[in-house]
Amino acid sequence: MAIERTLSIIKPDAVAKNVIGKIYSRFESNGLKIVAARMRWLSRAEAEGFYAVHRGKPFFNDLVTFMTSGPVMIQVLEGENAIAKNRELMGATDPKKAAPGTIRADFAQSIDANAVHGSDGPDTAKAEIAYFFPEMEVYSGR
Ligand code: PPS
Repeated sequence: MAIERTLSIIKPDAVAKNVIGKIYSRFESNGLKIVAARMRWLSRAEAEGFYAVHRGKPFFNDLVTFMTSGPVMIQVLEGENAIAKNRELMGATDPKKAAPGTIRADFAQSIDANAVHGSDGPDTAKAEIAYFFPEMEVYSGR
């Protein structure tokens, strides 16, 4: 299986709930290594740029407002099948539909405040990682 990298964001709701460590522990105990990390309070322009693909959708403004409502924890995860593995650990976008035991089922309140973000494919992962981290700040665990 391929060793991949993916971008993960612990969103303002989960940072405020003080569950960064619990979420990191799920990554680590499922074979994902944190190879870059940074806590940031995103500006509106940064959040709009990150979610540019969703511009024009009905939830865009609320999403940007939520993502700039407090600090976020941003990390690069590395491991076998990291992109799909992270999305499996996250659970469905809407926590009401997320499988039991997933991060969103356990820590998220709503489709807006849904605890975590994860890249949805290899191209997105590459672009999202580069959005926040220069290559020299990603410390590969291999
Ligand atoms: S879509 O509609 O298929 O493009 O949605 P998706 O790719 O699953 O995720 C879109 C991101 O916007 C956040 N968000 C919402 N999505 C859908 N509906 C509503 N109402 C909504 N509100 C917020 C959702 O959590 C996704 O954010 P990320 O950070 O990518 O997980």
